[in-house]
Amino acid sequence: QGKAAEASSSSKKPIIIIVIGMAGSGKTTLMHRLVAHVQESGKRGYVLNLDPAVTNLPYGANIDIRDTVKYKNVMKEYGLGPNGGILTSLNLFATKFDEVVGLVEKRAPELDYVLVDTPGQIEIFTWSASGAIITEAFASTFPTVVTYVVDTPRSTSPVTFMSNMLYACGILYKTRLPLMLAFNKTDITQHQFAVEWMEDFEKFQDAVESDKSYNANLSRSLCLVLDEFYQNLRKVGVSAISGAGMKEFFETVDACGQDY
Ligand code: GTP
Repeated sequence: QGKAAEASSSSKKPIIIIVIGMAGSGKTTLMHRLVAHVQESGKRGYVLNLDPAVTNLPYGANIDIRDTVKYKNVMKEYGLGPNGGILTSLNLFATKFDEVVGLVEKRAPELDYVLVDTPGQIEIFTWSASGAIITEAFASTFPTVVTYVVDTPRSTSPVTFMSNMLYACGILYKTRLPLMLAFNKTDITQHQFAVEWMEDFEKFQDAVESDKSYNANLSRSLCLVLDEFYQNLRKVGVSAISGAGMKEFFETVDACGQDY
């Protein structure tokens, strides 16, 4: 029995949580909150920062891309602008990512979650080769969950909501990993409307009823298409500022980890 317990503890794997979101959705604030919650709840976390351009990181990172790649030097050396500098820094880091996975593997038996922050410009991670390399390196070794942070107050218009969901759908297709939506800023706007729109497309259609624009017509058609996509999604409301929804957030991560 002792051996079985030992084997199961040595094969225990943490869940990797890759946090992505549009600029301003509250990704960094949410990461800070998640890191604090993991510590407060007695769980063991490991934190990775993959944003080479962040100036102030409000939480401590175990592995920080900025220790390896100096993004301003990369800009100068390669004659790049800010976005090219961030992308090239991530590419340079991705070439050594097996070492990062090796470090996490060594610590794995004593970890519950690995939280991964990504660059502020979402497409640098979601639409780059290095983002794919990093995601696949994790996913081939550990249960990996992608968390897409949604700015809830900015998504109350049906057309904006639909654009955001299409983006999330693209991420699901590209990563082929369990995806969960974190509706952030629920201290300003509760995410109930989004849940209703996702669970009942007629409610979404009612919301665009009064709008006769081309966009609204397209949104009406798309919500039928996305119905299938929504079935594969888990969602949770959170407030990075107040800390609401943290317990549900990690319950959702655990459920996604089991889907894996
Ligand atoms: P970039 O890294 O610059 O792309 O932004 P980000 O997505 O990391 O967002 P950040 O954490 O910097 O937050 C953007 C703004 O939203 C800040 O003014 C935050 O204080 C605010 N914010 C973040 N989360 C919440 C929240 O849960 N509630 C409220 N009310 N504001 C929030």
